[in-house]
Amino acid sequence: MAFSTVRTVCELRAQVRTWRTDGLSVGLVPTMGALHAGHLSLVHAALKRCDRVIVSLFVNPTQFGEGEDFSVYPRDEDADRVLLESAGAHLLFAPSVVEMYPERSDDRAGTEVHVPALDSILEGAYRPGHFTGVATVVSKLLLQSLADHAFFGEKDFQQLQVIKTVTRDLYIPTEIHGVATLREDDGLALSSRNRYLTAEERATAPRLYETLCKVAADFKRGGSATDFCRAAEAVLVDFGFGPVDYVAIADATTLKPVETYDANRPARVLAAASLGRARLIDNIPVDSGD
Ligand code: PAJ
Repeated sequence: MAFSTVRTVCELRAQVRTWRTDGLSVGLVPTMGALHAGHLSLVHAALKRCDRVIVSLFVNPTQFGEGEDFSVYPRDEDADRVLLESAGAHLLFAPSVVEMYPERSDDRAGTEVHVPALDSILEGAYRPGHFTGVATVVSKLLLQSLADHAFFGEKDFQQLQVIKTVTRDLYIPTEIHGVATLREDDGLALSSRNRYLTAEERATAPRLYETLCKVAADFKRGGSATDFCRAAEAVLVDFGFGPVDYVAIADATTLKPVETYDANRPARVLAAASLGRARLIDNIPVDSGD
């Protein structure tokens, strides 16, 4: 079928209804555009699993804090459309802010989705309100599309846990799939924000992943998570990162801190650090195969 673009929930639902009548399964890949191969790996995962794949493109204002990059976030819908069409996606849903948040323009308070156990730790501690914005917009997208499956990157690991929690607690009948982080050959996780890096910063950036790998390896040999993480933060500062918001080892589901290695309890090493204009985040499993 031909690739097409819709901008309203009404058109989106009409298309999904037609697919369902034809007995086709539907997958959703939410994005904020500025697409790269990492996003396309989610589209490929969705195409493997679903008969029809919707990609949403919406730079969600409610998940950006004051002083964050909402106004300068890269936007190039035409280039994104070309990439999605050649990747084999079926539908682009690119709504306006008013379509997604009508309540904001007619003075209603609106509804927010809030996950208290996850939204003020790690990333949440540095980006107040961010996960409420993410949980709210993703809930809307899932309920607007009524997709059978939705795909999110492990690159944003805490976001993935927030979304799994919301869909479970609100009985949203969409199966959530996590997709492994796609990296450059030197280990840097692909991100729309990597384009903020200068050539010199780009050469330093893979040190973040390298440091996470070292923390995981050291931690598995025994010792205190706190000690390894504090040492890693100092190493990142030496490499030129700053501020280094955190390096942490956390339970892979609850994201609560883990202090000593336990082979029976999947854990994740997570970090966030600025490098010039870019704030980079990354994470890896302590044991590969988590
Ligand atoms: P965005 O940053 O555009 O990312 C869209 C999806 O692509 C997310 O699920 C993200 O984890 C995934 N992704 C990004 N880089 C990746 C990489 N290197 N490998 C694999 N997957 C990667 O995340 C958001 O948008 C928004 O918060 C959103 C979920 C769309 C809600 O507004």
